[in-house]
Amino acid sequence: MLRRQLYGLRTYIPGMRHRHRLEALVGPLGCWDELQKYQFRAVTELGLQPSDTLLDIGCGPLQGGVAFIRYLPPSSYYGVDQKPAALRAGCDELSRQGLWRKQPRLFYSRSFGDEELGDEQFDFMWLSQILYYFDHDTLHRLFEMASRRLRPGGVLAGDILGPKSDRSFLMGRGLNAADHTPESVDGVARVHGMRARSVGHLHGFGYPRRLNLSHNLLLKITREAQ
Ligand SMILES: C[S@@+](CC[C@H](N)C(=O)[O-])C[C@H]1O[C@@H](n2cnc3c(N)ncnc32)[C@H](O)[C@@H]1O
Repeated sequence: MLRRQLYGLRTYIPGMRHRHRLEALVGPLGCWDELQKYQFRAVTELGLQPSDTLLDIGCGPLQGGVAFIRYLPPSSYYGVDQKPAALRAGCDELSRQGLWRKQPRLFYSRSFGDEELGDEQFDFMWLSQILYYFDHDTLHRLFEMASRRLRPGGVLAGDILGPKSDRSFLMGRGLNAADHTPESVDGVARVHGMRARSVGHLHGFGYPRRLNLSHNLLLKITREAQ
């Protein structure tokens, strides 16, 4: 609480107001650069190549997005989110960083982009810190979409709460998390011709150990060979 109040003082400092607004949309405050590095390390260690196309589901204000857009060729990054304020902040960040020249595509979507993306297919789909909010039916919708839109050899990755994850961030914020396990997610993935497995805790990919979600499990989900 005190930490939030102290960080909140940044809104009165002109040079820091923008950064505070971005961090408040993603949380936790004061960790933007470290979490951006974590996201980049996770996707590249899980196989994202510099020639790939990426769909960033729940892209928020582009904490990971900015690093992915720098890394990928033009027209290869697609971000979707269901919160207009997060997308506006992401657009603002692209202007500040001069990254519109990489022609990223951002969409407001409540269907993981399925209704907006035409016949686009992807090498990689990334869901950072949102998979654990998805209930069973939502996971089915996600994997049904991914089974059509992932190229052969493609990867979908995202994190779920682990047994040691601290769930206190959910309290008092009206948030519900689903208690998935790698096995339960694999059970849903199999229905759609995909397989899910845990590749370890987030801290193993550089997620700061002091943050309460560092014990989340990162899942790598692939299409089964046809
Ligand atoms: C914790 S933030 C993470 C943002 C970004 N992935 C990151 O790590 O910086 C979660 C984001 O997912 C978005 N979100 C949650 N459920 C979603 C859904 N079903 N479809 C699209 N976006 C969603 C929220 O609006 C929010 O911007």
